Amino acid sequence: MNVAGRPTRTIWPSADGIAVEIIDQTRLPHAFVTARLATLDEAAHAIRAMLVRGAPLIGATAAWGLWLALRADASDAALARAHATLLATRPTAVNLRWALDRVRAHVAPLTPSARATAARQLAMEICDEDVALNCAIGTAGLALLRGIAARKPVGARLNVLTHCNAGWLATVDVGTATAPIYAAHDAGLPIHVWVDETRPRNQGASLTAWELLNHGVPHTVIADNAGGHLMQHGQVDLVIVGTDRTTATGDVCNKIGTYLKALAARDNGVPFYVAAPSPSIDWSLRDGVREIPIEERDVRELTHITGRLPDGAVASVALTPEGSPGGNPAFDVTPARLVTGLITERGVAEASESGLRRLFSDAPAS
Ligand code: MRU
Repeated sequence: MNVAGRPTRTIWPSADGIAVEIIDQTRLPHAFVTARLATLDEAAHAIRAMLVRGAPLIGATAAWGLWLALRADASDAALARAHATLLATRPTAVNLRWALDRVRAHVAPLTPSARATAARQLAMEICDEDVALNCAIGTAGLALLRGIAARKPVGARLNVLTHCNAGWLATVDVGTATAPIYAAHDAGLPIHVWVDETRPRNQGASLTAWELLNHGVPHTVIADNAGGHLMQHGQVDLVIVGTDRTTATGDVCNKIGTYLKALAARDNGVPFYVAAPSPSIDWSLRDGVREIPIEERDVRELTHITGRLPDGAVASVALTPEGSPGGNPAFDVTPARLVTGLITERGVAEASESGLRRLFSDAPAS
């Protein structure tokens, strides 16, 4: 995507060839700052502290993290240690395990002296593949959006609601849920996006709004609680969200609050789609509610809020009374029965085991 008119990815190898660079997403939307990751510990910290976040970008960063680890020590023990360290950074997005297992399986049979170069090459491939998958999701989603637009009066605004940030910033480029949105906007469809602010961390208000603004896509930031009301009044044509982990049966784990949007969508007859690239499908799981580990994050995300003061300084202030305990589950699971379809790189699948298997007959057995 373009930042100030320059095509930019969210992660890239540094010019000196010994590190990777990322956009520090904790500084957005008030400052565009990049950070350099030169060690395993720096890569693990970037994922844990959410300088990078979003399932596909977490996976890509972990792949680069293994390369950084192997540059320092390419022994079997170091590979195992680095894999375990990175895997422990965040529990819910399955892309993390997918990328780590893929790099480990690729380099483990090699002699230690060949491992770092091979890991670097594969990390780059994983990034390029992510962009290709997202572009394919954009193509499949665009057909869907054209179909919905065709049922509206000519020239009428097409209203999409999205939750959290499943955009360019959650991936290497293009985004998953945003891929059809950008494709539609670029194709001249009169698209408008309702952006859920996404409490408690506000990825919608701070990240999705920022990237849509940069790309010139009309959008409106709304309180999370406004979605149901807008749906009741015919102001949402469809919902598109991302996924951190989708089971083999089509249950979708995504940012906390996604489930409530799916319930409201069902009650109002609004189609609810999930942009689901195959690396975010966990073929080993069948029951999302019971089997997917849900990350519990620091309650400070809930009890405090960060924003820009009139003098430009960014500050964090308390929201809740001192002494009131908080709880902060970061994800929830939307059962497959509430999902209209999964927009994958191979087309739109019904959210069911047979629907997914029809498109991914080559996937591992569950
Ligand atoms: O906690 P985050 O910001 O990493 O959560 C991100 C989401 O829930 C996204 O919607 C999801 O990863 C899909 S990203 C393409």
